[in-house]
Amino acid sequence: EEGITVGELAEKLGQTPANVIKVLFLLGTMVTINSALNDEQVELICLEYGCECEKHIPVDEINFENIEVVDDEKDLQPRCPVVTIMGHVDHGKTTLLDTIRKSAVVDGEFGGITQHIGAYQVEVNGKKVTFLDTPGHEAFTAMRARGAQVTDIVIIVVAADDGVMPQTKEAIDHAKAAGVPIVVAINKIDKEGADPERIKAEMAEEGLLPEEWGGDTVYCEISAKKKIGIEELLETLTVVAELADLKANPNRYAYGSVVEGKLDKGRGAVATLLVENGTLRASDPIVVGAAFGRVRQMLDDKGRVIKEALPGTPVEITGLNEVPVAGDKFMVFESEKQARSVGETRMKAKIEKDRNSGAALSLDDLYSQI
Ligand code: GTP
Ligand code: MG
Repeated sequence: EEGITVGELAEKLGQTPANVIKVLFLLGTMVTINSALNDEQVELICLEYGCECEKHIPVDEINFENIEVVDDEKDLQPRCPVVTIMGHVDHGKTTLLDTIRKSAVVDGEFGGITQHIGAYQVEVNGKKVTFLDTPGHEAFTAMRARGAQVTDIVIIVVAADDGVMPQTKEAIDHAKAAGVPIVVAINKIDKEGADPERIKAEMAEEGLLPEEWGGDTVYCEISAKKKIGIEELLETLTVVAELADLKANPNRYAYGSVVEGKLDKGRGAVATLLVENGTLRASDPIVVGAAFGRVRQMLDDKGRVIKEALPGTPVEITGLNEVPVAGDKFMVFESEKQARSVGETRMKAKIEKDRNSGAALSLDDLYSQI
């Protein structure tokens, strides 16, 4: 089918040439009835009209939003747990993570308010644990919801001198909706007016009855700032993670979620990804949301170049044609061509969706004027 023209293909498909031209136009390519099409374009048009063609890619069968891959039990290996830290504004989430990491993220943050989800990997008792920090500000509900979705365990931080606040409740709701174990960290116990018992009573009212009161929620009393109770908290996490018996198959193409996407002046589209299953490798062909490309450079959370990332690992990659959005799913494909085809189809669907919602310029209107 090499070199088939728009007119010829349209005839084969029983479509008008104008329709074929429109499909390509929506994908960002201007063609005329006599333009010769390459393989990829032919494939995409065939996909659009739901017909068989050689090397057909069943894009419809790839449900990114709800990837369910069943691995053989024998292929599964223990993986690194993902722990999300949530709670109300200023209750000490970033300070806690900072103490766990023994670095200085809090000082470097603008105004001390977490603006986005930070992803870090830390070694606890010789085992790797991935931590996601989330903003407590009320404007970031969606981020907390996404954080809860990719997590294995949620730590809810409550300041002992403050109490259960709106975003504390919201964090509990997200964790419950995600069906993951909750560990409560009562923070700032060093402060005057700290009243851990009152916090427990308030949290019990939200359905998190402490173990020592006959419930099944583990509470840790800590001071993130004064480094009190941190060992016990980490010990608790280790136990909860072990009970969860987390496994993944490192010997498959990677898939997972976008933690953050941004445009970097020098590096282009940069995405922080969390590998949920499989192993992500440098130069892998990849589709991320509606973006695609090849993993050009892959960095770990400490900014070091790495060649591969195992399940549960957060990484930063470059090499995408667009900036993905937090919460988008990613998936590795066998060939770059496949990734491009799937990516372009998804981009087209996205454009169409935006157009239908009236958010973007109507390309249909535009087309009718050509
Ligand atoms: P957002 O990201 O804005 O939601 O806040 P956060 O929960 O990450 O709080 P952050 O770690 O930025 O801490 C807020 C303030 O509380 C900072 O001034 C910290 O120094 C202080 N703080 C955090 N933990 C403790 C603690 O254990 N004791 C005391 N006394 N102060 C703390
Ligand atoms: Mg913070």
